[in-house]
Amino acid sequence: MNNTRREFLKLGSSAAIGALIPSGLLASAQSPVTLTALPANVQLAPTGYPKTEIWGFDGTTPGTLIRVKQGETVRRRFVNNLPEASSVHWHGLRLENAMDGVAGLTQEAVPPGESFDYAFNAKDAGTFWYHAHTNSVEQVARGLYGPLIVDEPEAPDVDSDEVLILDDWAMNPETAQLDPDFTSRHDRSHAGRRGNYVTTNGEPYAERRAARNQRIRLRLINAANARIFQLGLDGLEGWIMALDGMPLAQPEPVAKVFLLAPGQRMDLFVDVTAQSGKTAHLFRVDDDEALSQVAFAVGDEAGSRRVPPPPLPENPDMDVPGYEQAPLFDLHMEGGAMGGLQSALFNGKRMSFRQLVDVNQFWSFNGTVGLTDAPLAAVVSGRTARVKIRNDTAFPHAMHLHGMHMREVLKDGGLGPLRDTVLLFGDDTREFAFVAGKPGKWIFHCHMLGHTASGMATWIDVT
Ligand code: C2O
Ligand code: CU
Repeated sequence: MNNTRREFLKLGSSAAIGALIPSGLLASAQSPVTLTALPANVQLAPTGYPKTEIWGFDGTTPGTLIRVKQGETVRRRFVNNLPEASSVHWHGLRLENAMDGVAGLTQEAVPPGESFDYAFNAKDAGTFWYHAHTNSVEQVARGLYGPLIVDEPEAPDVDSDEVLILDDWAMNPETAQLDPDFTSRHDRSHAGRRGNYVTTNGEPYAERRAARNQRIRLRLINAANARIFQLGLDGLEGWIMALDGMPLAQPEPVAKVFLLAPGQRMDLFVDVTAQSGKTAHLFRVDDDEALSQVAFAVGDEAGSRRVPPPPLPENPDMDVPGYEQAPLFDLHMEGGAMGGLQSALFNGKRMSFRQLVDVNQFWSFNGTVGLTDAPLAAVVSGRTARVKIRNDTAFPHAMHLHGMHMREVLKDGGLGPLRDTVLLFGDDTREFAFVAGKPGKWIFHCHMLGHTASGMATWIDVT
């Protein structure tokens, strides 16, 4: 047979041509997948209320679900269509510092109308999220966040998998518009911006269907500015499988009430134990009242109860080798209302608490307010270090370390679970060990975002 040029052209469907081009070239020739931040009007309040103006990734809140398999590369062209500069942080991922999205530390904020290309490998399987990291106290409160799920190579044995992003909104109950004061002195000097309206995935009354004895994976993400969710299960029984994207060595039965601080995630496997025809709940405790956060209408029997689940497969490098002898850094938190902070350094100047209040700054780490030129600590990449955090304030703080996870060094010398965000109540003093991640400047800040904006941020220099 005579394979002429003409014959060949006839065969030239896109599939045939694709096969001749190395797949890498083909991928780069395709237009990049975008993630666009923009203002949008959405039905956030219950039906019957006006739409709410939010800022959202791809115009929704939560933004588009990003879901990949462990080991795959996430690539997104971030396009900023907001009226102000922005950037994207991939919360909980152990990635290259240049991809971390912290404006002013790891990259320049992206001006309106411009874009920035993010690419990183999803090394760990688990529940993560992404959010704006420029003027976060306002941008996250306006809705700029979304889920980032990294699937295990082999799907665990569950019947369904629910991503549940919890948030609260400071909303005017008549106009359904967000409170535009993101600089409130009261919020910043106290517990932070608290909402009066709570949602799950942007819905006021989240309802799902379930069958009795089904096993559901609940991926809880707290995207609130400051609210510590107090949660519980009713008609569901289950295990904590992972915290902040990192599997527990042994699944732990879910307590009656458990806490989820801002920035934290929790993967639960829950079995539906409620009778058919009843409703099971993930509930939250609010002012001593249990309120439904997500309701599961229970349908017919779906087989019999299963045995407790085996642990999820470990992620790579979850140990903190040699932590007992590792260098120890102190982080002393002071300030806030009722905190008794006398003075602190701000922008290199000593200022009295009164003077700090005038510039809307309230919190200090080791006597300084906000990011300084010098890091809290310098650690060589791959080495273990410890940080002892002393919360000398009257409020809880959720400390988030970028690019790394920490294990608590317990009083008995043992280690707690691996976490990227740890909650410390007033008067708590606790020690954490971590392995220094990739080289670069990693911010370490409170995830009560009004606290970060008024002083609670430092950084670790990984060299
Ligand atoms: Cu989830 Cu520095 O942030
Ligand atoms: Cu705080």
